[in-house]
Amino acid sequence: MTDTSYTAPVVPLYPRSGAPVPLRGLYLEAELPDSGRCGPWVYSNFVATLDGRIALADPETDRLGVPASIADPRDWRLFQELAARADIIISSGRYFRDLRLGAAQDVLPLSSAPDFRDLHGWRRDKGLPPQPDVAILSASLDFRLPDALFRQGRQVIILTTRDAPAEARARHEAAGASVVAVNAGDGVAGDAAMRHLGACGYRRAYSVTGPYVLHTLLAADALDALFLTQRYRLVGGASYRTITEGPALRPPVDGRLESLYLDADGPDAAQQFARFTLESHPGSAPADP
Ligand SMILES: NC(=O)c1ccc[n+]([C@@H]2O[C@H](COP(=O)([O-])OP(=O)(O)OC[C@H]3O[C@@H](n4cnc5c(N)ncnc54)[C@H](OP(=O)(O)O)[C@@H]3O)[C@@H](O)[C@H]2O)c1
Repeated sequence: MTDTSYTAPVVPLYPRSGAPVPLRGLYLEAELPDSGRCGPWVYSNFVATLDGRIALADPETDRLGVPASIADPRDWRLFQELAARADIIISSGRYFRDLRLGAAQDVLPLSSAPDFRDLHGWRRDKGLPPQPDVAILSASLDFRLPDALFRQGRQVIILTTRDAPAEARARHEAAGASVVAVNAGDGVAGDAAMRHLGACGYRRAYSVTGPYVLHTLLAADALDALFLTQRYRLVGGASYRTITEGPALRPPVDGRLESLYLDADGPDAAQQFARFTLESHPGSAPADP
């Protein structure tokens, strides 16, 4: 990717419409809280098409992934900027399985690609560690951690359940991760998991994984903000994912629009960049295990 992908400006539409502003720096310089409902300020980011797809199944392998028809380099820049703001990145067992199959989009941010060198410099200037730490939600523990994470000096915290397989738990601990059984049962409770990250001292946690982790966070009232890129493109497909998958959220989670930018002059399909604060919905969160 060359820098020319980023030269077209974006147009602020909300809270005030205004003159075009550069894409670069849009989220790097945005004001972001450093505490949230469960301790850290927990935020996530997705790119979705107009027909709501975030991932499609590959017709040959049937494996889900983010194809080029959904991914976008300008959104990817903002994704990396949001990663630069994080103390810790939230990922999933699925991501590390994809990584071994070569199906994940990139190594966990921050990317080492030349286009994102400025973000590494930005963290250095702020006195932050070179890379955010890593939290992984997984019940199965059925994945392998890449050595690169530890070579980069990152703390790796695996958030799992008390029923997680002991052998896999020992394997991850031997590799250098800390494995935390957050609660009993089939899945990790999002609020208890985020409280653990808060107790570890993290102030901003960025969920970069998919719809099941998002559902876990939403159902537990543990997600503070959502950044949503909507590409003005429809892609169809019979097997796909939307930004959240799982049982109906009761009550539904309401978003309050914080900012909206129109990106109509980039090299590819037009799109919009929205940031929502998610309203608290106490009562739906599962009881503390
Ligand atoms: N377009 C976008 O912006 C965007 C963003 C992110 C992802 N995606 C794509 O979305 C697709 C679908 O992702 P996905 O369905 O695999 O979703 P996911 O939410 O990324 O991962 C699901 C995995 O997370 C773990 N998990 C989720 N909730 C848990 C809980 N409460 N407790 C314990 N573990 C939990 C489980 O891991 P274990 O099985 O190890 O227990 C589960 O298999 C992928 O192809 C991905 O590339 C697109």
